[in-house]
Amino acid sequence: VLQQAAAEMLDWHGSGMGVMEMSHRGKEFISIAEAAEADLRALLAVPANFRILFMQGGGLAENAIVPLNLSRGGQVDVVISGAWSQKSAKEAQRYADVAVIASNEADGHTSLPAPASWRLRTGSRYVHLCSNETIHGVEYAQLPDLAALGCDAPLVIDCSSHILSRPIDWAKVGLAFAGAQKNIGPAGLTLVIVRDDLLGHAMPHCPSAFDYKTVADNASMFNTPPTYAIYIAGLVFQWLKAQGGVVAMEARNIAKAE
Ligand SMILES: Cc1ncc(COP(=O)(O)O)c(C=O)c1O
Repeated sequence: VLQQAAAEMLDWHGSGMGVMEMSHRGKEFISIAEAAEADLRALLAVPANFRILFMQGGGLAENAIVPLNLSRGGQVDVVISGAWSQKSAKEAQRYADVAVIASNEADGHTSLPAPASWRLRTGSRYVHLCSNETIHGVEYAQLPDLAALGCDAPLVIDCSSHILSRPIDWAKVGLAFAGAQKNIGPAGLTLVIVRDDLLGHAMPHCPSAFDYKTVADNASMFNTPPTYAIYIAGLVFQWLKAQGGVVAMEARNIAKAE
């Protein structure tokens, strides 16, 4: 990918411009962004009723942007499985009534709080889970099925550090977010994949540029997106497809682990 980006840096596909020089509203960049989105949708088998948003602010900004969009100031349930979900709980407290419904703090964040033990509350707007706790090395290989646990709230996952290393079961997920800088490309791009019924519920003081519906309605171009990061991410998506996609990545990871 870096070699391809280097070769295209001064002149992208004979356009006479490098990607950094392009208008984000010009036909060249729009074709880059559309291809990146389509390739990501194909790689992760994202269903048609989910929107893919290219945002900024990183994983930690999403800790605020998610409650601003989904909590409506109501209840939010958080599973603490390590340092990142701990930060998520703390940030969401600024906007919502947060309950820690399970925690592995007692054993130094080395175990996985089993979904059957979660103290899920009735009426919560969403349940937050960090599906791969980067610092503590605690990963949910299988996502919990909240519906099977009698909970109809959407599951929000912070999958920053294992996105695209395995398929995602969208039947179990309402929203997934990930900073791009670990598994995808340059820092500055944040991916949000959100079910469309969760759009349009932002709190009145949510900044417009962080309102998921505004971002979705404007195809991630409400304000200038991180264009070069999207371009590199798009090249990584093409590379991943050529490697056989996320199923091949998962098989490789399992083989390495063994
Ligand atoms: C799981 C997880 N969430 C959130 C973050 C923070 O992301 P950012 O630095 O993009 O805000 C990180 C990593 O640095 C992470 O590993």
